[in-house]
Amino acid sequence: MRMLLTLLAGISLALAAQEAERMPTPMPILPSKAEVAKVVREAQAWDVHSYAKPKEIRTLHIALDLKADFEKKVLQGTAVLKVKVLDPAANSMTLDTRDLEIQKTDASPDGKAWKTVDHTLAAKDPILGSKLTVSLPKGTHFVRIGYATSPTATGLQWLTPEQTAGKKEPFMFSQSEAVHARSWIPCQDSPGVRVTYSATIRTPKNLRAVMSAVNDPRAKRTGVYRFTMPNAIPSYLMAIAVGDIQFRALGQRTGVYAEPSVLPKAAKELEDTEKMVAATEQLYGPYAWGRYDILVLPPSFPYGGMENPRLTFATPTILAGDKSLVSLIAHELAHSWSGNLVTNATWSDVWLNEGFTTYVERRIVEAVYGRGPEEMQAVLGRQTLQHLLDTLPPADTVLHLVLSGRDPDDSLSEIPYEKGALFLRTLETTYGRKPFDAFLRSYFKHFAFQSVTTADFEGYLQTNLIAKFPAKKAVVPVHAWIHEAGVPNGAAEPRSDAFKKVDEAIAAILKSGNAAALGKATSESYLAVPAPWSTQEWLHFLRGLPADLSLDQMKSLDAAWHLTDIGNAEIAHVWLRLAIQHGYTPADARLRNYLIGIGRRKLIVPLYTELAKTPDGQVRARAIFKEARPGYHPLAQSTIDQVLGLKD
Ligand code: BES
Ligand code: ZN
Repeated sequence: MRMLLTLLAGISLALAAQEAERMPTPMPILPSKAEVAKVVREAQAWDVHSYAKPKEIRTLHIALDLKADFEKKVLQGTAVLKVKVLDPAANSMTLDTRDLEIQKTDASPDGKAWKTVDHTLAAKDPILGSKLTVSLPKGTHFVRIGYATSPTATGLQWLTPEQTAGKKEPFMFSQSEAVHARSWIPCQDSPGVRVTYSATIRTPKNLRAVMSAVNDPRAKRTGVYRFTMPNAIPSYLMAIAVGDIQFRALGQRTGVYAEPSVLPKAAKELEDTEKMVAATEQLYGPYAWGRYDILVLPPSFPYGGMENPRLTFATPTILAGDKSLVSLIAHELAHSWSGNLVTNATWSDVWLNEGFTTYVERRIVEAVYGRGPEEMQAVLGRQTLQHLLDTLPPADTVLHLVLSGRDPDDSLSEIPYEKGALFLRTLETTYGRKPFDAFLRSYFKHFAFQSVTTADFEGYLQTNLIAKFPAKKAVVPVHAWIHEAGVPNGAAEPRSDAFKKVDEAIAAILKSGNAAALGKATSESYLAVPAPWSTQEWLHFLRGLPADLSLDQMKSLDAAWHLTDIGNAEIAHVWLRLAIQHGYTPADARLRNYLIGIGRRKLIVPLYTELAKTPDGQVRARAIFKEARPGYHPLAQSTIDQVLGLKD
């Protein structure tokens, strides 16, 4: 009982930290087990990153009519929200917005007859944006908001023609995850709220719009484009891009969109996409979204990939020329099951999206490319995890995160990815691949088109896997995996034979002090990187070099393999980090070009961080950033502002 009361006290403390008006009615003394379970569930499903109150009024559908104004760098138009009133006492609706200019709010019982209603826009919270409260007369079923976005909307980037591949036309794209949909759509911006949507997008006539919706690959350039998304999705999956975008089919239901000059290379690199979709269906059941297309964006796209449904957004840095980075597509495709079909209910549950997806990504890699490449990815992932465990505060190594008062973007490390994937790999090896695959298939089916909490998953796992194999119950400490820091005992240990050879090479190079020994120590060349190794082997090699590498050794490595000039963005990233650490100046010019040319946060932020460790480096970093900043996405800009101490 004491535990129970402590639990309840803890929960109500957590709730008190939220808005007082959202407090549930106090529990009676001595609550029943069921009541406790309900409070725990609700507390866990509570989204601290949204002002919306979906238990009172819930959005069912959003109809957008927006004009993309490239002169002003704004979207201007209306959003009509079809709503369902769940609490008859509710006489207003709260929505999430950030930097939106709210011009008019109307309400309607039928979507035809509109009446202007009052609204108030609260002061801006740095993480959550501004709460918009719209008064609603009784009988309201539709809410219409006339609005414009800000040129500095955190979820949009407006590119000048110079920032594109073609250099002739401007480009605009969105990135809504985690809490940026609200900067271009007034909405209940919580992953626990799912809506269908439709949109009319008006653009300059020579440009084309695409969305995370049904796109018509053969659409004529008329300047007016219509979209529908018939499946209910969370707001963070709403996405748009406008530019000189062309389409090329890859397979029956797969294709690629890109600027014309990028299209041939993109189509070649991504030619296995159809195979990947088929392989994932074999593993986890039918693909639920119709088509699977990929949009390759200009280099300032701040992520590697974003799993916008029906239309993955991807960085051009995956176009390595040898398909060595297409596991990123496997990752975004995997989200079509883990994330888009079964969605984390709050950002505290993000491991349900990213951990599952990282696990599924590797299963796809194995199915399409074989066990060898899968093992290399898994070992690299395990190394990344170890590095995080060694450097992060223990509280940040827990899977189920506590995020009150924290920006979900900033607090998202690779822990949910790699610890989550290792947890599932451990379940797989413990329970056997067949039973575990069947379990995952049933999980995706059971929770399809729903948003789930960590507690939902724990309950489902208990009933549908653990209870079925009582003899194994004690083997995987599920609670520790999810709620405690670090990695529990008995975790799976990924191994790669290919990497053993790489380790031998490192030993040889150290012994001889000469990089040429590397060539002798490795056996076969099998991919078109400028050395005898695959990208993954290179990454393992470079990560494994000792910290006290001499400048001469750096020089001889570079002379042997031209690492400073390597085109592969991932290998270049690790090499440039080494170059900064060792003061290897011949790479200076490349570093500058790299940082100016690419906007993917994961590739550039660690380099700025490394530079900022010395006073000299700090000066260089600021000089490069000054040049690069205007080309970066707002999210990358603000992260690096912080890294370089340019903002508090
Ligand atoms: N959904 C994520 C991107 C994301 C996560 C955006 C959280 C905002 C907040 C996407 O699926 C992802 O994980 N992208 C990775 C690539 C992947 C291969 C690890 C990336 O961008 O690096
Ligand atoms: Zn992901």
